[in-house]
Amino acid sequence: MMQRELPPTFNSGYVPDERRNIVDWDENESGGWLVGVLQGRKGLILGVANEKSIAWGVARACHHEVSELGFNYLGEALKKRVHPLAESIHSSFVEPLDVGDDAQIDDFFAKVEARWGRLDFIVHSIAFADRESLKGNFRDTSRADFHLALDISAYSFIACARRAARLMAPGGAMLTMSFLGAVRAVPNYNVMGVAKAALEAATRYLAHDLGPEGIRVNAISSGPIRTLAASGVGDFRKLMEKSARGALLRRNVTQEEVGNAAAYLLSDWASGVTGEVHYVDAGFNIGGGDPGAEPAAPGA
Ligand SMILES: NC(=O)c1ccc[n+]([C@@H]2O[C@H](COP(=O)([O-])OP(=O)(O)OC[C@H]3O[C@@H](n4cnc5c(N)ncnc54)[C@H](O)[C@@H]3O)[C@@H](O)[C@H]2O)c1
Repeated sequence: MMQRELPPTFNSGYVPDERRNIVDWDENESGGWLVGVLQGRKGLILGVANEKSIAWGVARACHHEVSELGFNYLGEALKKRVHPLAESIHSSFVEPLDVGDDAQIDDFFAKVEARWGRLDFIVHSIAFADRESLKGNFRDTSRADFHLALDISAYSFIACARRAARLMAPGGAMLTMSFLGAVRAVPNYNVMGVAKAALEAATRYLAHDLGPEGIRVNAISSGPIRTLAASGVGDFRKLMEKSARGALLRRNVTQEEVGNAAAYLLSDWASGVTGEVHYVDAGFNIGGGDPGAEPAAPGA
């Protein structure tokens, strides 16, 4: 394998950590191709519950880009699911973490430090709200449900970012997962929309804080995908249908598409991108689609 200097314009103003190359090129007959934009990076993926989790789509894309990954799980039931998934991509770092508990967050990051000594990226793909608050009237949201949703779905990103930043060098990257309900009133999304609005604002403030240290912080706003968390949102099937009809591509996005966009944002290909909410929603958010249109044919 041959390392090549990148053209100066590519890397304008960004000084990478000396231990990494922006990209590795592997010579072949047609002049070279990219291998692993996250090669040699060590990253945490928080929020895998099962193979349908968006976090698992991100993990697969990051694994494809040759990074070394660590995972958390919430509770013994999910441990049994997360372990085999992690093993399938040769990861042996799988530790318990409930982000509602500061002591557990401290313990988790102490394990990361002991294991790797440093961290290159972190993906926060975690949200929780009481099921009852994700249907019916928003005005009925209780104080306790509001606190819970905001704590687990928004504050936890700040709590993890603070610990992660201590282990990061310039070039580090953080990413969280949002939804359109942050900026529009989406039926039944209710208090989770408020939590996502806080999460998106937190993304900007974290980017502001960590920018001078060369650490980037971004969010992906994904279109609806059928997952465990999504099943808690009232009438989620209708939301999926409406989203497919209204999307410019006339379909919903996949876990793989979110994963690929995440790998880009975590890599140095996005070295000039921070504080952004990047939509991966087949164009639904720009509002140009036709909610009355037929969904795209399978495979389109
Ligand atoms: N599925 C969608 O349509 C969709 C769309 C946009 C954004 N998102 C966001 O993507 C993220 C991932 O959700 P998903 O759809 O993959 O569902 P998921 O159920 O697979 O993932 C949610 C994860 O949050 C974890 N979690 C909940 N409470 C926790 C706690 N106290 N401590 C640690 N972990 C905790 C769960 O264990 C689970 O792994 C969430 O932030 C969600 O809001 C989902």
